[in-house]
Amino acid sequence: MKILLVGSGGREHALGVGLQADPACTELHVAPGNPGIAQFAQCHPLLITDNAAIVELAKKLQVDLVVVGPEVPLVNGVADELRAANIAVFGPSKAAAQLEGSKHFAKEVMRDAGVPTAHSFTCTSKEEIEIALDAFDAPYVVKDDGLAAGKGVVVTSNRQEALDHALACKRVVIEEFLDGPEVSLFGISDGTTIIPMQPAQDFKRALDGDAGPNTGGMGAYSPLPWAPSDIIEDTHTRVLAPMIAEMAARGTPFVGLLYAGLALTDHGTRVIEFNARFGDPETQVLIPRLKTPLATLLYNAATGNLSGTTLEWSDESAVTVVLAAQGYPAAPQSGGVISGFSSINNVSIFHAGTSHKDEALVSSGGRVLTVTGVGEDLTEARNLAYRAISQISLAGSFYRTDIALNASVAEKGN
Ligand code: AMP
Ligand code: GLY
Repeated sequence: MKILLVGSGGREHALGVGLQADPACTELHVAPGNPGIAQFAQCHPLLITDNAAIVELAKKLQVDLVVVGPEVPLVNGVADELRAANIAVFGPSKAAAQLEGSKHFAKEVMRDAGVPTAHSFTCTSKEEIEIALDAFDAPYVVKDDGLAAGKGVVVTSNRQEALDHALACKRVVIEEFLDGPEVSLFGISDGTTIIPMQPAQDFKRALDGDAGPNTGGMGAYSPLPWAPSDIIEDTHTRVLAPMIAEMAARGTPFVGLLYAGLALTDHGTRVIEFNARFGDPETQVLIPRLKTPLATLLYNAATGNLSGTTLEWSDESAVTVVLAAQGYPAAPQSGGVISGFSSINNVSIFHAGTSHKDEALVSSGGRVLTVTGVGEDLTEARNLAYRAISQISLAGSFYRTDIALNASVAEKGN
């Protein structure tokens, strides 16, 4: 099977490794890819916002499957254009990707599907915003309705700040604050059947102790030894399956990866948000643990053949730590030379924001690398990831030192 993977981040590097490891994948192409991916797949430069270029490349290469990594091309409808050209694609249609593209739409579908989530108001005027803020009280949760590259959500106890953010959005969802640990749980869907993956936890804040600004994610780990033992089954029954059934009933089946961001509150699981693609950096801990051949799995999803599938997982733990560029997330600096890669058993270094300049590897994004360690427990996985990342040098770069720390301590205590 020839596969074209679209994207260029750490998530795509990890997916590429997984696809390549499946013997069914005979040729792997990535567009645009990055220097890490180029070590094992053929990369093709293009703009991921250019649907026509993606379709043209898929046709030229005569691929059997396209896997779309990031949300932007999905929300732009690239999957519809590929399907119209008779190419199998793992990724939702434009209509189904609205689960990520519009917070208001996701709330409507959750309501119709009976999926538990925060109470919310969708507002388009100052009057509506004021009423909603008063209805919930602090801390306020204010979400831009549309895609905002990770900058759309403000959680604050400062009413003025909440109001200012709400007024800056065209349409805004204001919702109840959900208290409790956050979990990312993904399902792979063929439009009617959805297979849950294992849970992971992401660290969204830039600095240790969950301080600093929100980011795309500074690290992740899986499994979650502290999570309820029925979390996968419960999320499948109460969240993933009803969403897939509701999307199918609306005539817009969801084919691809449905990402449920959950809060485990005292009143039970609540959905914080959906995404329409694999999470980054959660993918960098899930793929190294997944034993089921990935290319076959995603092809079966793309072609409506998931029924009866179960996933096989390694018992090992994985921890990934993001190396971020100086100034991330507000104003990341690019162009610094990266060095200090060493080869350590059970460590994978996934490229996220890197490029070649002359002979050197340089940074070209906010999240530069994701370093994953795999070990028999979280402590061993953490030690490996931190040993590897501490040897890498990039002027001004930083990383969190507490990824999976509490969970590894609690695991040892059990
Ligand atoms: P998002 O950009 O949608 O991933 O949201 C960013 C972060 O905002 C989430 O990971 C949560 O930590 C936080 N958040 C979003 N919605 C809520 C909520 N209703 N209650 C508490 N925190 C929230
Ligand atoms: N890890 C958060 C995201 O992928 O949106």
